[in-house]
Amino acid sequence: MSVAALVLAAGSGERLGHHLPKAFVQIGGKPLVLYSLETLASVREIDCVVPVLAVPDLDRFRALGPALADIPKLAEPVAGGARRQDSVRAGLAALPAEVSWVAVHDAARPLVRPQAVARVVAAARRDGAAILAAPVADTVKRVREGRVIETPDRAECWAAQTPQVFRVDLLREALAKADAEGRLATDDAQLVEWLGVPVSVVAGDSDNRKVTYAEDLAAVERALCGAAQPADGERSRG
Ligand code: CTP
Ligand code: MG
Repeated sequence: MSVAALVLAAGSGERLGHHLPKAFVQIGGKPLVLYSLETLASVREIDCVVPVLAVPDLDRFRALGPALADIPKLAEPVAGGARRQDSVRAGLAALPAEVSWVAVHDAARPLVRPQAVARVVAAARRDGAAILAAPVADTVKRVREGRVIETPDRAECWAAQTPQVFRVDLLREALAKADAEGRLATDDAQLVEWLGVPVSVVAGDSDNRKVTYAEDLAAVERALCGAAQPADGERSRG
């Protein structure tokens, strides 16, 4: 009945536009991926933490050496794939048979709190599938070809976060169905929704922000370090 966490860090970070792969961008002197690995490993309900990295980054990850040795429950890194869904598939394939529950987390969300992780794991164990999400502040418009086609009731609009936690066999089945139908989901819950299985929503922290653009990185640096840090490499120049 063990619980594994997949920490997805195999993306290219194209929108961030940094010279390092996003997982290795330094925040307060520490690579971004380590924040999520440490937080998930600190959660009592999680038994093992599996990093998923792009093939060219596997050696760079292993070279973090001593920093990795300090993280309990850390499994060997797994090679991800070209699209996020491919990385999830690779991570799921690498899980040992005794794993019954999986928490899928974006390494790009280094601010996630252990308490929020524990809450969403508990909800998934009760309901089968659960995600962290936060109510949206803005009114959301569905837009096609520059025209509004719908305004969903804002009270019903939540922004999905990670971790998203599932029974492993449920997520495997959902992924196999999406693959067979050639569908690509933008988060893991959507795969399960396509099976017609309900997904519970747990209120997450509004600051569990995903580092996508440079402005997100600056905000996360402020949250973790108190003030914006010089960009990587600038310290030595200045
Ligand atoms: N991810 C992954 N494998 C992929 C694509 C994404 O493991 N093939 C991971 C990223 O590393 C990230 C998370 O999924 O932690 C969310 O993806 P996103 O924010 O889109 O990151 P990137 O894909 O790296 O960024 P971009 O889309 O700008 O290239
Ligand atoms: Mg991406």
